[in-house]
Amino acid sequence: MILTPEQIKQAVGQKAATLVEDGMTIGAGTGTTAYWFIHSLGKRVSDGLKCRAVPTSVQTKLILLENNIPVITLNEVAGLDLVVDGADEIDHQLQLIKGGGGALLQEKIVAFAGKKRITIADSTKLVQKLGQFALPVEVLPFGYKMVQRYIEKKYAITTRLREKDQKPFLTDHGNYILDCAFKVIPNLFEANAFLNNIPGLVDHGLFLDMADEALIGYPSGEIRKIFRPF
Ligand code: A5P
Repeated sequence: MILTPEQIKQAVGQKAATLVEDGMTIGAGTGTTAYWFIHSLGKRVSDGLKCRAVPTSVQTKLILLENNIPVITLNEVAGLDLVVDGADEIDHQLQLIKGGGGALLQEKIVAFAGKKRITIADSTKLVQKLGQFALPVEVLPFGYKMVQRYIEKKYAITTRLREKDQKPFLTDHGNYILDCAFKVIPNLFEANAFLNNIPGLVDHGLFLDMADEALIGYPSGEIRKIFRPF
């Protein structure tokens, strides 16, 4: 049997939910794949598993509550035992592009707090080089055009202000998103440093060395594990 894209997401989400151990404090990702992780975890919680979760977005907080998984804030805990989240692109060194859903800021903070970070995705997200998926960059509305021009000039690329209902899309933190059409990001660590140094740029969707393991689902039903090379 060939799985549909939704069934693949469900399978990897379900697999990741089996990795949560009793008593763990976890980080819960955002997106359609993370949804299935939370959904499966909810079933384990209703069977008696004890865990609590820090959400990476308002949307995820609601899904956790719907699934009766106790929600806490990052400030209430010393760290996270496990973080499970999706991704928009994954290369073979487990470097990621995230932020397709606009939740990259909290996702990166939560990933940073995680002792173990697992990325869950279907095989279409695996790429040789990051950048075909436009890199989401979260910017303060104040002066965002300056940030936009600066990135466009440096990389000779186009960037687009993300919109929703013909208005700028607002993140959970009231910021804008610029989707930056790199096509290929030439040097990931250089781009990371360049972006991190721009005033007004809040954060961006390059997640470098922030995933320890990936569970990649295939239409055949197979789930392959990829580990970050050290
Ligand atoms: C949310 O901002 C993103 O980083 C998601 O984790 C990413 O877009 C993956 O989402 P899907 O699982 O819905 O593809």
